[in-house]
Amino acid sequence: MRQRILTGDRPTGQLHIGHYFGSLKDRVALQHEFDTFILVADVQALTDNFETPNIIKQHVFEVVLDNLAVGINPNTATFVIQSMIPEIAELTVFYSNLVSISRLQQNPTVKTELKQKQALFKQSISYGFLGYPISQAADITAFQATVVPVGDDQLPQLEQTREIVRKFNRIYGETLTEPVGRYGAFPRVKGLDGKNKMSKSLNNAIFLADSATTIQEKVMQAVTDPKKVRLKDKGKPEHCTVFEYHRMFDSECSQIKSECEAGTRGCVFCKKQLANQITNALEPIHERRESYAKQLPHIKNLVLEDTTKAKALAAETLERVKTAMQLNYA
Ligand code: TRP
Repeated sequence: MRQRILTGDRPTGQLHIGHYFGSLKDRVALQHEFDTFILVADVQALTDNFETPNIIKQHVFEVVLDNLAVGINPNTATFVIQSMIPEIAELTVFYSNLVSISRLQQNPTVKTELKQKQALFKQSISYGFLGYPISQAADITAFQATVVPVGDDQLPQLEQTREIVRKFNRIYGETLTEPVGRYGAFPRVKGLDGKNKMSKSLNNAIFLADSATTIQEKVMQAVTDPKKVRLKDKGKPEHCTVFEYHRMFDSECSQIKSECEAGTRGCVFCKKQLANQITNALEPIHERRESYAKQLPHIKNLVLEDTTKAKALAAETLERVKTAMQLNYA
């Protein structure tokens, strides 16, 4: 039997090149080898967008289109709309007994997100947000996924899932499969600010849908090695966001590196070159997106059919979980 991969996206906005290199590119490559499930995590998205459900509604099928645009095959991958699988919510309730509050509070990804969301949570974090890693364990186990592609930010969530699975199996008997993580080539893509992870809310992202002009404008603002002020200054590519992006878009960039280090390459030239490269790389993605967008009603049907199939699988898992927990009275 083919191994199953599960990945998820929160439908809160357009996907960007951080998503692309951190996750989408790998899932496209892996779809031939693995049974591929892509979860549109609208319930998880609500944990930090509960006051603006319209944002989520707007983006559910946009996220599907983004996945198709980068090369996911709609006929072989299974798209799942999370809120249509109530089994995930049930599993979350059962799993929540297996996780301590302090364990959740130590989750480094949740901590970073909280810092960024102070305006929403003020001093007091919601139970739902704190607990989303538990519901992510339910996402992964509901579909009996064995492999989860992870970047740095999702690693703690996967660890949490693995802990839950082990504890569940120890207490209630061998029931759930422990998934393994799979690291991609670019586990952490920095934003244009050169400091933080690329993220829509931090305003430091290049979106997959950006036009050539926008890409050019954004790349011009990207942070480079601060010590390289003039063209002839010798640069340190390892301290330069633009070089990091060059590496993502073109694995063969030893020449760029040596020119920068020798002081024969100016940052403006380097940025223009990068902007062109990004624009070219995004062109086929834009074209594919447009053609799928024209078939949106058909795509919506496929996603709903996929979700129905996935629900049957989640129901099977839930049945097993309830039996293991002796919650079977019939
Ligand atoms: N937490 C992920 C993110 O913020 C989205 C997600 C939800 C996910 N459920 C998942 C990722 C299950 C992997 C597996 O991008």
